[in-house]
Amino acid sequence: MESGDLNLTVLSTQNKQAWDRLYGQVENLVWGRPPIGFLNEFIGFIEIPVSRRFRMLDAGTGEGRNLEPLLSTGSSVTACDASANGLHKIMTPGRLSNPIPCTHCDLSYMPYAAAMFDFVLLADVIETLPDVNSVLREIYRVLKPNGILLCNVPGLEDDISADDMIPLGINKFLYQGNFFYQFLSLIESVNLVERNGFTILRNELRSWSEEAHPGFRRYKHTHTSRVFLVTKA
Ligand SMILES: C[S@@+](CC[C@H](N)C(=O)[O-])C[C@H]1O[C@@H](n2cnc3c(N)ncnc32)[C@H](O)[C@@H]1O
Repeated sequence: MESGDLNLTVLSTQNKQAWDRLYGQVENLVWGRPPIGFLNEFIGFIEIPVSRRFRMLDAGTGEGRNLEPLLSTGSSVTACDASANGLHKIMTPGRLSNPIPCTHCDLSYMPYAAAMFDFVLLADVIETLPDVNSVLREIYRVLKPNGILLCNVPGLEDDISADDMIPLGINKFLYQGNFFYQFLSLIESVNLVERNGFTILRNELRSWSEEAHPGFRRYKHTHTSRVFLVTKA
């Protein structure tokens, strides 16, 4: 598939390889253990029924820093990512309070049945996807009717948007010449989720700081993102 002059298939393949190399080269956790800054607050907005099994998917889980808050809800949690090295760190014995199924796959073609999940988390992933529409369509497919997607979309106000980014196109970059990034305005991010079929429940700006990420970002930094809680209505 092409978008302007960009070959999305080639970009996506190179991008997935770059993430996998990173997780393979860094023995410790690149992202550390604390979950992404908005997760605990937004999990509190989700109604989790006690009467039946609530199924959660952490899509693009990386090394799994967001899994413990999902597990703490008592839900049945699954994780997936295109990086075998990232998933390997999650599956290390003793890493999680409960072992979970991990799937090695592309987010555009997940090997899950339609309407399988009640909730999908897509944390710090949208901005890294050359073909973001195909991923959101796939997430829509695997969500149950009235299922919930929690995701964040950074704009140019995010500290990292100016850091070592080689321009590829309008608001599209390669970080350190390897990792695809795009930054969307408020209107662009609202259009993105709505044109892929979702109804917005919450749309809020949040900032949080993160420590340096070994092998990836050398200093403590602040992230600013639009956080969306949306539903497959
Ligand atoms: C910035 S990391 C975020 C990881 C994790 N969600 C977190 O918050 O720590 C982006 C993740 O998306 C994954 N990813 C990027 N493109 C993907 C694709 N097409 N299919 C599956 N995973 C992908 C990468 O392997 C990487 O782990």
